[in-house]
Amino acid sequence: MSELRERIEEACAVISSQWSTPPTVGLVLGTGLGGLAEQIETAAAIDYADIPHFPVSTAPSHAGRLVCGTLAGVPLVAMEGRFHFYEGYSLAEVTFPVRVMRLLGAETLLLTNAAGGMNPEFQLADVVAISDQMNLIGDNPLRGPNDDSLGPRFPDMCDPYDPTLIQLASECAQELGWNLKTGVFAAVAGPNLETRAEYRMLRRLGADLVGMSTVPECLVARHMAMRVLGFSIVTDMGLPEELHPVDIDMVLEQAARGGQTLAELIPRIVARLA
Ligand code: HPA
Repeated sequence: MSELRERIEEACAVISSQWSTPPTVGLVLGTGLGGLAEQIETAAAIDYADIPHFPVSTAPSHAGRLVCGTLAGVPLVAMEGRFHFYEGYSLAEVTFPVRVMRLLGAETLLLTNAAGGMNPEFQLADVVAISDQMNLIGDNPLRGPNDDSLGPRFPDMCDPYDPTLIQLASECAQELGWNLKTGVFAAVAGPNLETRAEYRMLRRLGADLVGMSTVPECLVARHMAMRVLGFSIVTDMGLPEELHPVDIDMVLEQAARGGQTLAELIPRIVARLA
């Protein structure tokens, strides 16, 4: 057994000792999704520090925990707080919890994030379903020895985000009375936001959204044959001709607004994944 697989199984063993139900869904909660976390009927909430091999959080206020329980009656495991490349973690560390979710049993992964919007059709606090992605981080979580028991050496990326799930999300949004937009998400290393020249470049490359997470997690989930659905909340507009300094409080405010929309949408989707 590979060292990686041993570490995943050790983490799973500790989680299973507190919550024996196999989850159907894994959920990664980005900025602004506190309201959604509250809707989970929690059976166990485990501090990352208590799970073997989970990255050690450097900022105590952002320690993070794994919330295990049900949402809309569906067993689910949720990350309250994720790890980012810009914090100094390797991408293998950033994505380790996704591997744990998969071996616990989750076949579907829901990813959420805050992102800059570069498509002029988008508005602040829009919830956008990710249709495709670009890895511009300059690193890859799958680099290094491959454990064939976890997934293939050269995973296919034809449909990183499951078209059937995007369709389902779109139907659920319609039921709630709004149209779900879709867009291509580009991941950068961060932590700085983009220059005008960088937003212009990313737009020309074909990206609608830019952020500092999600793509590594999606790559690892696809490596392990999970179905992935991803959402961005547009927290600031990256329009080079109209760019103004971004204030972090503004970003958090928009994330919270979009988070309310997602807190209505996601339970509806999850209910139909059972
Ligand atoms: N760029 C990169 N990451 C981000 C942004 C952005 O404009 N907004 C929120 N996360």
